[in-house]
Amino acid sequence: MKALVVYDSVFGNTEKVAQAMGQALGSQAEVQTLRVGDVKPEHLTGLDALIVGSPTRAFSPTPAIKNWLKSLPPNSLKGVKVAAFDTRIALSDVNSSLLTFMVKLFGYAAKPIGGRLTKKGGDLALSPEGFFVKDSEGPLKDGELERAADWVKQIMPV
Ligand SMILES: Cc1cc2nc3c(=O)[nH]c(=O)nc-3n(C[C@H](O)[C@H](O)[C@H](O)COP(=O)(O)O)c2cc1C
Repeated sequence: MKALVVYDSVFGNTEKVAQAMGQALGSQAEVQTLRVGDVKPEHLTGLDALIVGSPTRAFSPTPAIKNWLKSLPPNSLKGVKVAAFDTRIALSDVNSSLLTFMVKLFGYAAKPIGGRLTKKGGDLALSPEGFFVKDSEGPLKDGELERAADWVKQIMPV
């Protein structure tokens, strides 16, 4: 099984989550964990699973993740299991009713990433998931790296 974890990260939190996922899969698969700017077309050759993650920035993935997903050729993910994740601030930690309203309306990065992956032919194997930071620049909440490892392992056949 060949797997690729692609991520973007501004403050390093999403990178930590992506690395934890790569390590969790590593025992069961040939896995690479790459920042989005380092992904080359050949990294997608022969892939069984592709996991893509981004920090949520203004309810969306980063421009680098969005542009990379757009650049994937049509149907290039046919036969590939895909999954999407983001990092985000918990709604319970948002101290503004306007922001809470906007978050409920516009959501987070993982869902649109998952949508784009399926649009390119991927088979969405897991529900898009978010991992929580304590504050805008992090750190991650306790237990999130373990939760990320458990989440991603579900993409592998048992
Ligand atoms: C400009 C900016 C916009 C952000 N927008 C959101 C948002 O819409 N929703 C949210 O939950 N968190 C938001 N955050 C918090 C980020 O999700 C947080 O910085 C991110 O999870 C950290 O990941 P990173 O360390 O990989 O960059 C925002 C942070 C910044 C700096």
